[in-house]
Amino acid sequence: MRQSSLVVVANRLPINDNVALDGACEWRRSPGGLVSALHPLLRHTPATWVGWAGGTGPAPTLPDVDGVRMHTVPLSSEDLRDHYEGFANATLWPIYHDAVEQPEHHRRWWDAYQRVNQRFAEATAQVAEKGAVVWVQDYHLQLVPGLLRALRPDLRIGFFLHVPFPPPELFMQLPRRAELLHGMLGADLVGFQRAQAAHNFAQLVTKVLGLPATDRRIAVEDRIVRIGAFPVSIDTAEMAALAGRPEVVDRARRLRHDLGSPDQVILSVDRMDYTKGIEQRLKAYSELLEGGHVKVRDTVLVQVAVPSRERVGQYQILRDRVEREVGRINGEFGRVGEPAIHYLTQPFDRTELAALYRIADVMAVTPLRDGMNLVAKEYVAARVDDAGALLLSEFAGAAAELSQAYLVNPHDLEGLKQGLLAALRAEPADVRARMQAMRAHLREHDIRAWARSYLSTLDQTGLLLTRLGG
Ligand code: ADP
Ligand code: F6P
Repeated sequence: MRQSSLVVVANRLPINDNVALDGACEWRRSPGGLVSALHPLLRHTPATWVGWAGGTGPAPTLPDVDGVRMHTVPLSSEDLRDHYEGFANATLWPIYHDAVEQPEHHRRWWDAYQRVNQRFAEATAQVAEKGAVVWVQDYHLQLVPGLLRALRPDLRIGFFLHVPFPPPELFMQLPRRAELLHGMLGADLVGFQRAQAAHNFAQLVTKVLGLPATDRRIAVEDRIVRIGAFPVSIDTAEMAALAGRPEVVDRARRLRHDLGSPDQVILSVDRMDYTKGIEQRLKAYSELLEGGHVKVRDTVLVQVAVPSRERVGQYQILRDRVEREVGRINGEFGRVGEPAIHYLTQPFDRTELAALYRIADVMAVTPLRDGMNLVAKEYVAARVDDAGALLLSEFAGAAAELSQAYLVNPHDLEGLKQGLLAALRAEPADVRARMQAMRAHLREHDIRAWARSYLSTLDQTGLLLTRLGG
């Protein structure tokens, strides 16, 4: 078994399943923040990525991708149902996102969560070289740091949570709260998107486990576990370069023409998830149409909503409701050849996404709760012309950094309508000044800066940073 000095452990591998089965692998840019963040970082780094290749049954053997080894962990159909769809996405996901949907608790799901975490820990123990740095990602794998430490005490283990970490009153609902906290404390460094999340974690560790904790350090037996905020980002330069390419500019021009050359385009790009505030946004838009504040001929909304976690009941219900509402709004306000909403559920390649960003006069990113929201950052990076207004929810992690966006509370329908109108009617000079400030921020705080700040805290030898080109 080949071993690596850097191992990333995440629920998903970053490659396209179909292509992988043919033997010709390409990076999968699956619609999701984790792959989008880690992909540009690891390319051409001699690392191993431990993860699930999608599907069920025996794990396929995958070739290296751009110099990164793919080490697959198999999931059975029970694991998929009870670990991924169950405990990860129907218990933890809603609790971590303010319980905007009701979390479900089943003992069978917890058994699967433990079983799958153990399998990931064992796979990682096999591929990590002596003294390696292992970077465990996200809520699917919260027990892995503790399980891995028991198997391989020589490793330097980091854990990073891409989603919000909830306040104690919500986390306390989890029947297995102590085990989950213990699992995370197996890491040497536990990273969050925001300082508030690190604070919530410290409070819980004291309350549930009785350990002395500050927002930076926790004493666990004979070890110190460091905690902190490391807001994840994107490859700003790559998105800017892509958005400036002549074929993207050309594609953007054609897209605008195909939309009927409206005065203004509003764009939203989300996974179809109840945390993204899609229904609230549609309602706000519909009321603006109804009140005559926006007119279909002058303004169009392009809503991209790629299906996600399609076998989970709450996601099926959401999709039905969104599609019914889009149909209603188009039926009521559209005309022949002029729909009020252009609704797209396809995954797009990066070029098409960049072209869409470039035609969006207003980018509406209004989640009810979101760990970061990389779409907001991609939009800003793509606006190399300094144009375009970002309408951003206060409840997205990105709002802490992109404070020059037009900030809204998506729970407040009137506020959302006013925010949308303000962004649509903003003075070009104001729009430009805000965009320039946000672009300057992202040029400095890109994905490499994120990795530098996290890995230099985790691995004080600095060796990894040199390898990642930091
Ligand atoms: P989340 O992690 O909850 O999915 P983020 O906004 O952080 O949310 O990340 C979403 C990522 O998925 C972004 O990089 C975005 O470009 C990508 N994405 C979203 N929708 C699509 C789509 N239809 N096609 C391709 N990529 C998409
Ligand atoms: O950011 C949260 C997250 O669960 C990521 O781990 C993942 O990139 C994204 O959402 C998409 O989710 P899934 O892997 O369930 O398709």
